[in-house]
Amino acid sequence: MKMEDKIKKILADYRHAGREDLIPVLQMIQDQFDYLPEEAITELSKEFALPPSKIYSIATFYNQFRFTSKGKYHIKVCNGTACHIYGSEEILREIEKQLAINPGEKTNDGMFSLEAAPCIGACGLSPVVRINSDYYKNTTAGEIKEALQSYRNNEEQ
Ligand code: FES
Repeated sequence: MKMEDKIKKILADYRHAGREDLIPVLQMIQDQFDYLPEEAITELSKEFALPPSKIYSIATFYNQFRFTSKGKYHIKVCNGTACHIYGSEEILREIEKQLAINPGEKTNDGMFSLEAAPCIGACGLSPVVRINSDYYKNTTAGEIKEALQSYRNNEEQ
């Protein structure tokens, strides 16, 4: 099924949706495509009678939405309460600095994408970062910086 048809199928269930349905619809679209494609924002804009810029700004407020497909290495920084207390913000800033991207974005070479996620269920090991299937527990900005470098080195070999 084409992307456009998939989006229409999701929206068909929300024919008379109110604005309170916008977040659940965004979640369904992200579940389907793994990110929020521009085409979906355009369709939502018609359906909810909101300008695309408004939809982007609402979605940006909720850290879990992505506007690009995932990179080869998808980095999930837990930003739940426990991880926040133990320094997830510093880790996130370090990754943003290293990769020059913000949460919801992907590096130009397609290698890394970044997400600031709500609790990923390992609070006793906070702060926690997940890169693809690798978990970094009780981690630090320095350890993650080294990990990014080693993913890069592996690619260059
Ligand atoms: S708050 Fe990070 S794993 Fe729960």
